[in-house]
Amino acid sequence: MTGTTSPRVDAAQPMPGPKRIPLSALRTLANQPPLFFAEMRDRHGPFVRLPLPQRPIYLVSDPHAIQEVLVTANRFYGNDILRSAATGRRETPLTMLLGQGLLTSDGDLHRRQRRLIQPLFHRQRIAGYAEDFAALSERHVRDWPDGGEVDMLREMVTLTLSIVARTVFDVALGSREAETIRTAMPRNDGPLRYALMPMGGLLARLPSPSNIRFWRGRAALDSVVFELIARRRDEGADGADLLSLLLQARDADTGEPMDDRQVRDEALTLLMAGHDTTANALAWALHLLVGEPAALARLHREVDEVLDGRRATLEDLPRLKWTTAVFQEALRIFPPVWTVGRRPLQERVLSGYRLPPDAMVMMSPWVVHRDPGLWADPERFAPQRWLEPTGEDDQLTGTALGQDRPKFAYFPFGGGPRQCIGNVFAQMEAVIALATICQSWHFAPLGGQRVQPQARIIVRPRPGLRMRVLRRRAGS
Ligand code: HEM
Repeated sequence: MTGTTSPRVDAAQPMPGPKRIPLSALRTLANQPPLFFAEMRDRHGPFVRLPLPQRPIYLVSDPHAIQEVLVTANRFYGNDILRSAATGRRETPLTMLLGQGLLTSDGDLHRRQRRLIQPLFHRQRIAGYAEDFAALSERHVRDWPDGGEVDMLREMVTLTLSIVARTVFDVALGSREAETIRTAMPRNDGPLRYALMPMGGLLARLPSPSNIRFWRGRAALDSVVFELIARRRDEGADGADLLSLLLQARDADTGEPMDDRQVRDEALTLLMAGHDTTANALAWALHLLVGEPAALARLHREVDEVLDGRRATLEDLPRLKWTTAVFQEALRIFPPVWTVGRRPLQERVLSGYRLPPDAMVMMSPWVVHRDPGLWADPERFAPQRWLEPTGEDDQLTGTALGQDRPKFAYFPFGGGPRQCIGNVFAQMEAVIALATICQSWHFAPLGGQRVQPQARIIVRPRPGLRMRVLRRRAGS
């Protein structure tokens, strides 16, 4: 025990859990980690220590304890769970791409950068992007082959990347810079593939084809980003894109701007964190809608009534209630960031259980969002949970809105000082995109396709999400 250990630590219990993980469960862990976590919570309860071969995981699925770790006691926890406890090495698969941007930095650097960048994400600023969200979505779906097949995941990735390339860098669709960003952006290559693996840092350094693709992609992105930074500095950065705002930002205490390396790390972080998440959320939403024709028909009715054939605007959002509920429900069932991790900076007690320093604490939206103690009929896609009851719907209507529901029964965007900075951006973008896509298109499933969630850092539909797209005629 160290001098900093509180008496409460002495009185605390070790976290319960199995002595050994059966081989069959280890296989699930390798192939379907969210299902493994869910199985462990079902078997062992909301606090379970999992003795994994490399390092134990402390899986916490109680919403009040999650709120404590992410919000009330956040200063006692660090973000860099993949840091090597033995060597103290801070480079992780994610930092290899993103350096020390918001997502990957910790401590004072994170606090300073968050304070600097937060104003760029105020609702009024984001509102200025609504037109881009609608115009780019409209343009993206215009030329889909009527009656043909598309891979909806790929479509959504291209769409959200073009949106984020426009809002972060103000580069036009089809420009050389936008093309490099689109083609070079590593998504599941090299270190990103190994991010949650115990030997991830080592695997990420081997000259495998996947790592080589990653290194080349990163070099191409760097050359475009540094070129854009230099150009903005020359021209005087006075635009409304996030890159210009990053260059204009000044620390409130010191008045200092960020150096180019930090601007690069932040811009790439926004680009990376800001497109794949939303793309997968949109793809899952469309997948769920295709499986539930009544929900899709209701969405079609709503966009026809609210938009009446014109382009969606910011002012339409409060009336796109069903579309919003569909997106919220898709984030419940398939939260793209399926787990969030923290490590205590020193020994801690959480709900009476002892956490050693450097324990890998995992809190999984996937697991909590499907807890039958918190959600009625949790596996069912039911957007009406998110709507006020009107007297005509089924018994799930409004069940997600109850006052007595713990706040962290639903946390697709995390929480506390490290809550997703792009939360409002993502929701606005997704609802406008969903409404715009469904305004013109109907969807039909393809026979014989079995879609499985595949989770690395993000939960994706595997092997993709092929569906038939049919242009809507008046009244269809
Ligand atoms: C549906 C879409 C999205 C989901 C589900 C999502 C989810 C999350 C989650 C769960 C976290 C917290 C991770 C943690 O606590 O360790 C996070 C952080 C972050 N997200 Fe998002 N995100 C989405 C969209 C976006 C967008 C559009 C942007 C930017 C334009 C963005 C930028 C970030 C950044 C920079 C962080 C790090 C914040 C910090 O640590 O201070 N995200 N996101």
